Amino acid sequence: MNQHPTVAVIGLGYVGLPLAIAFVESGCRVIGADASPTRVTELRAAASPIDDITDERLAAALAAGLEVHPSADAPLGEAEAVFVCVPTPITDSKDPDLRPVLSAAETIRPALRAGQLIVLQSTTFPGTTTGPFREVLERETGLLAGRDFDLAFAPERVNPGDPASAAKDVPRLVGGTTPEATARAATLLGRVNDRVVQLSSPDAAEMAKLLENVFRNINIAFVNQLALLCERMGLDAWEIIDAAATKPFGFMKFTPGPGVGGHCIPIDPYYLAWRARQFDFTDRFVELAGDINLQMPRHVVDLVTEALNARGRALRGAKVGVLGVAFKPNVQDARTSPAADVLAGLAARGGEVRFHDPHVPTFRDADGVARESVALDTLLAESDVIVVVTAHAAIDWAAVYAEADLVVDTVNSARGRAVRPGQVIRLGAGWSR
Ligand SMILES: NC(=O)c1ccc[n+]([C@@H]2O[C@H](COP(=O)([O-])OP(=O)(O)OC[C@H]3O[C@@H](n4cnc5c(N)ncnc54)[C@H](O)[C@@H]3O)[C@@H](O)[C@H]2O)c1
Repeated sequence: MNQHPTVAVIGLGYVGLPLAIAFVESGCRVIGADASPTRVTELRAAASPIDDITDERLAAALAAGLEVHPSADAPLGEAEAVFVCVPTPITDSKDPDLRPVLSAAETIRPALRAGQLIVLQSTTFPGTTTGPFREVLERETGLLAGRDFDLAFAPERVNPGDPASAAKDVPRLVGGTTPEATARAATLLGRVNDRVVQLSSPDAAEMAKLLENVFRNINIAFVNQLALLCERMGLDAWEIIDAAATKPFGFMKFTPGPGVGGHCIPIDPYYLAWRARQFDFTDRFVELAGDINLQMPRHVVDLVTEALNARGRALRGAKVGVLGVAFKPNVQDARTSPAADVLAGLAARGGEVRFHDPHVPTFRDADGVARESVALDTLLAESDVIVVVTAHAAIDWAAVYAEADLVVDTVNSARGRAVRPGQVIRLGAGWSR
């Protein structure tokens, strides 16, 4: 392999942009391509759209030769290897939506040439790389994967908001359609990762990625159910989980909350469930976990109703202030945040809903209603009840608990903060005493 290969990255988002920059920093020429004109414009202007890449690091990568092209114009034929990092969403009926992946394959096809390496990185069901993705790449080209070009799947492990997850020492997985393709992709990824684990096939690598994410989804559902039970039993799920987590082996800590969000955990399990059904197999764990996690935003709405009821008030007409709408703390990413269902559910029952999030200036709820973040002191002064959905470190929690009369805390943000008896109802624990 060329000492400074040219690499193309299609899809410059949470996954593709850090990869493209890492390749530039390793000395490669990188052809970045994105279908969104807005994304191309902001990247060319060195305005990073993601939390973990600073504008300075993006500017340095641009200065070092990172190219950003609209995908229709990207010179993909000049690349030795092409990485595909486009979204893998689900449809309204929660089936896999491979349109971005297949459209990226269409983008590659006219430029595909013998000797290239194509690596799919988007999380997807086993059989995508060797099935529809390969079929679109090969169509009417006369080129065959494994004979004329190399094809592999290499899932991504980045965890937005946690820069360590994108560090070089996080091992990567790769599985190619031939041992040569696997080894070649592993060598290239070895420029940006210290350890690359080679699997026997793309299907195995696709399934390994789904296992990682489904594992999280199932365990979050498990503690969410524990939280519901603890509320009924008058126990504090947070105390119990912390106690269990002192076991130094055989236990991994997960915490309950208002639901699951982000691009991966709420979505990827449906890829596995859908694929399983094609084998006449119902993955009951996956479907049950999805069902439990989907119910959590409704439970939050019930807790708000209960909290107001304790003050002799109805949710209808009450001023409800939601704190945090990003899908997890300390990030600006509010995609598929459970806050969307919480806000819509509160508004549907007549609550006058506003929110504050230091990282998210505007937010659209599940019914499509867009709201602007209001100042924290305004929200605290003018709300009948505060609902904590995402506990960003940048929120002044001392002020929240000093000033708020009534709080529904879904993430245990009240821990260690002076609270008056009857001030806080916590998901998984009930009323503070
Ligand atoms: N975000 C994460 O934490 C994470 C972690 C691991 C894996 N993944 C997986 O990686 C994949 C990408 O996710 P992401 O979070 O980076 O998505 P993203 O939405 O942040 O970025 C995707 C980019 O691809 C572009 N795009 C969409 N369709 C395109 C097309 N046909 N051609 C060219 N560009 C196109 C979009 O404009 C966008 O800039 C998904 O499969 C996701 O499940 C995401």
